[in-house]
Formats: sequence, structure tokens, C-alpha cells
Amino acid sequence: MDHVEELLARMSPEEKAAQLTQYFYFKLPAGAEPDPALGLDLEAQPRGVEEALGRGEAGSLLFVRDAAEINRLQRMTIEGNAHGIPALFGFDVIHGLRTIFPVPIGMAASWDLETIERGQAVAAREARAVGIHWTFAPMVDIARDARWGRIVEGAGEDPFLGAAVAAAQVRGFQPTVIAGPKHFAGYGAAVGGRDYDEASISDYELWNVYFPPFQAAVEAGAGNVMTAYMDLNGIPASASKWLFTEVLRDMWGFDGFVVSDANAVRNLVTHGYARDLTEAGARAVTAGVDMEMAMGDPAYAHLPGAVSDEVLDARVRKVLEAKAKLGLFDNPYVDERLAQETLTDPAHRDVARVAAQRSAVLLRNDGGLLPLDRNASIAVLGPLADSRRDIIGPWVFDYDLSETVTVLDGIRRAVGEQNVTFAQGVPVVQRTFPSMFDMFGGNAPSDPEGFDEDAEFARAVETATAADVAVVVVGEWQNMIGEAASRSSLDLPGRQLELVQAVVATGTPTVLLVMNGRPLDLRWAAEHVPAILDIWYPGTQGGNAVADLLFGAVSPGGKLPFSWPRTVGQIPIVYSHTISHEPENQARRYWDEESTPLFPFGHGLSYASFSFSDITIDNPSPVRDGTVTVSVQVRNDSDREAAEVVQLYLHQRSGSASRPVRELKGFERVVLPGGESRRVEFRVGPDQRRYWNAAERDWVLDESVFDVWVGGSSTADLTATFEVTG
Ligand code: IFM
Repeated sequence: MDHVEELLARMSPEEKAAQLTQYFYFKLPAGAEPDPALGLDLEAQPRGVEEALGRGEAGSLLFVRDAAEINRLQRMTIEGNAHGIPALFGFDVIHGLRTIFPVPIGMAASWDLETIERGQAVAAREARAVGIHWTFAPMVDIARDARWGRIVEGAGEDPFLGAAVAAAQVRGFQPTVIAGPKHFAGYGAAVGGRDYDEASISDYELWNVYFPPFQAAVEAGAGNVMTAYMDLNGIPASASKWLFTEVLRDMWGFDGFVVSDANAVRNLVTHGYARDLTEAGARAVTAGVDMEMAMGDPAYAHLPGAVSDEVLDARVRKVLEAKAKLGLFDNPYVDERLAQETLTDPAHRDVARVAAQRSAVLLRNDGGLLPLDRNASIAVLGPLADSRRDIIGPWVFDYDLSETVTVLDGIRRAVGEQNVTFAQGVPVVQRTFPSMFDMFGGNAPSDPEGFDEDAEFARAVETATAADVAVVVVGEWQNMIGEAASRSSLDLPGRQLELVQAVVATGTPTVLLVMNGRPLDLRWAAEHVPAILDIWYPGTQGGNAVADLLFGAVSPGGKLPFSWPRTVGQIPIVYSHTISHEPENQARRYWDEESTPLFPFGHGLSYASFSFSDITIDNPSPVRDGTVTVSVQVRNDSDREAAEVVQLYLHQRSGSASRPVRELKGFERVVLPGGESRRVEFRVGPDQRRYWNAAERDWVLDESVFDVWVGGSSTADLTATFEVTG
């Protein structure tokens, strides 16, 4: 890193501040019309950034994704600053660039760490091929409030699963692009599920629940971390020295650079935390935030003279080191000829298809309605059955809809056109407000001009009546979820439930496919629709994967990464709660609703059936820092091959704090041919038993009897105990 030190010695404070500044570069795709309601001048914005590059005022850009464009802007950057320092190009490559994978909550539902890693490796390969050096992913925020739109981007409610998924994603990204776990920390706990609102999180929850995925991402080698927008316990997270210096760097040894979320530094003024941009910049940079992501005037332009050389150098060093590690000083440009070839690599589509198969969760399959007979006549219904844009979900920008396979396409490809009829039935929702992402080509309204809703509804019911089986695809319009897309209700939007009810009333056996990024109110369906398959937003290859599942080429094997509430009023509902009253009083605590979720955490059925038996613990009386091996026999009792996620839950009976009734502490996805069995082993050591004790303000390991459960969901009942002594 000699070059970095040489540069630092030669740079002026203004040049250093420029290295810490990242600009959005918004340019519309050809032919796209910006929505005036968004209030962005999309001609002036890129022009202004180019002028700034010419003056050497930026060290990084975001939102550019075209190889030729990246090379052009890179050239401007290098020529614009006296030292020829190249720019870092960052982008939100969340679940794929051109090849779109299932949304992250869906990928997490696979509980398949290899598939998750492979998927992000494909995304990283495509990103790097067009010149993107850094992705603002993974989002590792624990989300326990389904109203919050960004639940779709994470791995759900559980810190153990969240940590494993976070590490797998970083392993996939980081060899090729810089991974940036976000948003440190507590963004998922926004009050009321309203995006950007404050989070009040106890010390106990921060350490035991919200931090573990970040620490796992850092340990897996993430090169970047992004701040969070909101106030965390009264301090804007983007200016928290405790978070970025004490926890992230001093305790966890993070060696990369920190970026603010967009405008989060200048918004310190909005928070009422800084009186002007100069103070905002000084407070953030002193807290340890290396780079400012800026849409408007950057606060970091005011850093020269406002902070010491020492602070400035420490921050700039991290950014220059990142550029050096990527090899940008030697090789700043991308080979434009290779980009297209990489983006269209058919092997990438194969990985996406497998990922979509594995992410699907079979919530219900009464009477074994699934898999379907390939010779049956099938009515494909619902507003999301043939929506090319919805099936790839939110947070995608470089997709190619011409190669996107809808559910209707996939079914037709699998069984031919002759037996498949289609009717949309209803729109998802009437468009009422512009989304911040519409400028990148958002949804067309699902009730296009001339759409006669009553006639279309009647046509859908007739189509169902005439078929052997109905497949109804419902859920949320992809614009209803993601950033700034919270909801106050979990209802199926619009008249979708009415459509499902009318189809079921025809007497035609009905399969419900749910396209979603958050749990929805499926109370009626869970009682009346025999088969329900959660397919999330499954991506480019979604339709093919759904057909593979519907007709039994593969069995569903995904498991829920959250407890699925019955109704919005149950939120937050988490399986790993503590218990403070007699268990018999736990069952009915709402006057008007059960206390249990509709589907428990870890739930997911299969076309096979699995049994668990013969649980053993090798060392039932370990010492405090000892490890036990729990082993269990898993059998596929069916005659077909399938995958099962074997889950281990732990409970500490007594000790220096109340402990959750169960906590996930191990899992393994196993694939078993029909009739075969296997022994699965889990090691349970101090790492699985230690927890942050709020009274001690430290990690503790208690002596106690521990209950262990192993099975196919958080309601597993095969149990054993061990006792930690001495
Ligand atoms: O990466 C995102 C972040 O998650 C939310 N604000 C904007 C950033 C850049 O797009």
C-alpha cells in the first residue's frame, strides 16, 4: 500500500474530501419517461455530476451500470483530478444484475447456503463485467415487522439464520466485488414499520438479535458497511461513533470503509443533530463514516478546515486502500466486449432456476393436491400470473423482460399450450402514487386502459369452472414493497381474496401461488384452499422453476424465515420470545385472535415426508465452555427424493437472565432419496449458548439444563437435554 501513502502525502485537504464523496449519477434508460412527481431534474443531475468529475470533486459514483458509460465516466474522473485517482463504481446489486434471482427473503427461505453463495457469485460476476466494483448488499437487517417494506431484502426475523445467510452472501460477492452489508444498525426496527422512522432497541436486543448478522458479514470479509438512516436510541445511526468506531472497528476488527446511506450525512441537519452541513460532515467523519453518499450538495465538501488532518487521512486511507485492493490504480477500465457475453451467460440462468426452486415454501398441501397431473386442464388465473415485471420483484434495474419467464409462460412450456387457459381476473391494485423507482421503468398499472374488471372477474371464474385444476397467482405488486414501501395492512391488495374465494367456490381444486416479499393475511386461504405455495418474487427464471415444482420435477424444500402472522395486529410475532406467565395462559392473549402465528418459523412442507428419531447427545454433562454433539436420525418416508432442512433449537432452563423458549442454533439442508435415512450431527458449543446479558453488560455462559429439539420447523418435538456444570 505504498502508493496509498504516497498519494496521501501529496493530496490537499480538498482532494481528500473529494475522495470521500460519492455522487448518484441518474441517467434514464433510453425512452424512459421520468415521473414529474419525483421532483428530480434528470437532465441537470448527470450534467452537474460530470462537471464535478471534471473539477476532481468525487471519488466514487453510484447507479451507473453500463460498461461504456462507466469507462467514459472513469476517464473523466482520472483526467479530472491531479493524481489520476480512479473512481469506485457502486450499485445496488441486491438479487442479481441481468440474471435476477429470487428476492433476498426468498433466497433465505431456501436455507441453502451454497445456493445463496453461488447466486451472489453470479451477481458479482455480472456486476464486475460491466465495471461495477462494489455492491450495496447484502442487507442484513433483522426484520420483525412485516409492515416494513424492506423485510423483502433481508433474511427475516432470526439472528442465527440471518448471520449464516449474511456470511454466505459476502462469500459469494467479495472475491469479485466489494460487499457492503447494511444498514448498520437497527434499521429493521423502525417504529410502526414506517421506513426511516426511529428505532429504540435495548442493549439486549442489539447484541443478541440485530448485531450478529453484521458481525458474521464482517468476519466473512466484507469490505464495506453502510450506515442506517434512522435514529438509534436517540442518536442518528449515521453519526454514531459507538457503532462505527467502537463496535465495528475496535471490537470486530473491521478493516474496510464505511459509506453513509444516501444523503444520511446532510440529513444530520434534518435530525436536529447538526446545525449545518459543516457540522454534519465533521460529526459523521469523526464517528468513522469514511464516505458520504450524496444526492445533493455533499456535506463532506465542507470537511477541509473542519476536521483534523489525522481524521481526514484515516478516512481517505481506507477508500484508497479499497481502490488499490481492486487493482484500479493499474487497471481502471473494463473490457466492454466481455460485458454482454457475461450478462447473457446461460449458466447464470441455470443457477437462478435452481435458486427459485429451492426458495419456494409449500405452506399447505391438503390431500396431496400437488404435484399436479401434467395432463390435467389448467386454468391459470390472477393478476400476477403473467406479469413480467412483478415476477422479478423490487430492487432490480438492469433486467431484460424479454427473457423473463412468467408463471403462465413456465406452465405452458412445461405442459404445452393446449391444456392451459388464462384470465387475469382482477388488477392487483389501482396505481395511486409514484414509486421512487419508477424512473427506472416501474410497473405498468395492472388495470390498463380498457380493463373491464367485472367482465374479467367473470371470465376468470368461468375459466376456473371449465378446468380440472385452477392455479391462482396473487400477492403484492412489486412496487408495494421495498424501500419507502411500508404497508399498514397485510391484506391481499384489491379484490384478490374475492377472486380466490370465487374460484374455490366453483369446486375446481385450487392451488394458490403467493408472490410476495412479506407475509400476507392468508387466514381464509389457509382454511379453504387445499394447496398454497409461496414463490416470493422468484426472478428471471421464476416461471420455469414454478412449473418444475407444480408438476413435481422437484419437490419444494424451502422453510419460512419468519413467523407468519395471522393478522397485522399480531406484529411483532417472533418464535424466540421469552415466557413470563403460566404456559396455559399463553395461548389466548388476544380477545379476538390466537396468539400463535398462522405458519411457524421454519415451516415448509415437501412432496416427501420426513421423520426424525433416535436423538442422542454424546456428552450430556459438559463443562461451561464445553461442546456437545447432538445427533439425530432423519428418514425420508416417501418414495421420492426430496430435501429437508433439519433444524436444531435450544432452550436454557435457568441462569442469569430469562432466555427465549427456543432459539435456532443449527440447521442443515439434506437431500435424501425415497426410503433412505441419514444421521445428521450438530455441534452445540459456547458460541451457541452464550448471550449478551443486559445486567452484566457482557457476554455470559450460564450453568443450566438445556433442552434441545430437532426437526423440520420451530415446532419440532423430538427432544433431549444436557446439563452444563462447573
Ligand atoms: O443502497 C441503498 C440503500 O439501501 C437505501 N438508500 C439508497 C442506497 C443506494 O441506492
